[in-house]
Amino acid sequence: MVFSSLFNNAQQLRHQSAYKIASAILTESSQPQPFDFGPRFSLHYVSRWLSPFLVLNLFLASVGLAEDAGNLYNTTFDINAGRSYFEKQCSRCHGFDARGNDEVGAPNLTGPLTRASSSAGIYTILREGIAGTAMMAVDPEVPDSQLWQLAAYIESLSRESADIAVRGSVEVGKALFNDVGECLDCHMLNGKGGRLGPDLSNIGSELSPDELGLALIDPSAKVEPRWWSLTLEDKNGMSRSGLRMNEDSFSVRIMDTDSQLWSYPRSALRRVVRSEESTMPSYAARFNDTQIDDLVAFLYSLRPEATP
Ligand code: HEC
Ligand code: HEC
Repeated sequence: MVFSSLFNNAQQLRHQSAYKIASAILTESSQPQPFDFGPRFSLHYVSRWLSPFLVLNLFLASVGLAEDAGNLYNTTFDINAGRSYFEKQCSRCHGFDARGNDEVGAPNLTGPLTRASSSAGIYTILREGIAGTAMMAVDPEVPDSQLWQLAAYIESLSRESADIAVRGSVEVGKALFNDVGECLDCHMLNGKGGRLGPDLSNIGSELSPDELGLALIDPSAKVEPRWWSLTLEDKNGMSRSGLRMNEDSFSVRIMDTDSQLWSYPRSALRRVVRSEESTMPSYAARFNDTQIDDLVAFLYSLRPEATP
């Protein structure tokens, strides 16, 4: 529809311009003043012959370069519309808070994205999907405006987390993190550390300072399924617990505190007890408020836009 009317328009313009050029030449050449030919003729000629092309070019440019115009659907209204659409259509994989879901491999969308760095890039992903993955193109019936609203919502998620003033000291926080906090026993930071907790290399773009504080004081307030743990008891009464790595109808896999993997066929197990509590200790009693602020300042600095 859009394309055929564009095509008709272009044809019409081409016809018009051909007609205008012909008539321009005709009218000018029938003027009986050969010496007064110069500036008047050329200006007149140029404007007549170029204007339809200019209009056509601007028109085509505005269609073809839509991506360069940025997202025009980024008011608060659009962002809210994008959020409600997201909750209906996308949250089953990416989560209500858009922080992703390890089980289905849907990435966190609240920090910098891997495959897009602008609204236009997000728009393209939504229109085309990501081949060979669960990320499919949205229904072609969904209008462009709605996709731009979704893109605006996703962009707003990473902008919200940036540049919030924090109270603590990044330097002191860093020292606590590396030393007395023993955070690296469980967490990976830029390739170093343990695997008993999430990689924190980019945590500042995923959580706000408030959320970071809560993660330290009350780790169990929110625990992704990836970090649930299981206690297994086999038919001889032996039990073992660890992080839940994988569970299906035939087997269960866990990782113990020494990062050892254990796999059991379900048929060998008498009991499987699942805990949705965090295995991270609370730091509410170990650190005072100032130290928690310092840790938050350090964690919040762990985001690409904060590194100079
Ligand atoms: C069936 C599950 C599923 C649904 C539903 C889904 N996604 Fe995805 N999405 C994925 C997966 C899996 C990936 C990662 C693909 C890859 O890169 O391997 C992904 C990737 C993305 C990416 C790229 C992320 C990056 O870091 O570059 C964006 C943006 C995205 N999805 C947005 C959406 C939006 C918006 C919706 C709703 C219209 C949606 N997704 C619905 C599974 C899903
Ligand atoms: C015994 C292992 C362990 C230690 C020690 C530990 N953590 Fe954790 N941490 C975890 C686990 C497991 C999770 C994921 C479950 C949850 O959200 O609590 C986690 C979650 C987090 C999160 C939230 C991450 C997210 O993506 O939501 C932050 C922030 C964090 N830890 C910071 C720290 C800091 C800072 C220290 C040191 C002061 C620390 N942790 C010490 C295991 C640990």
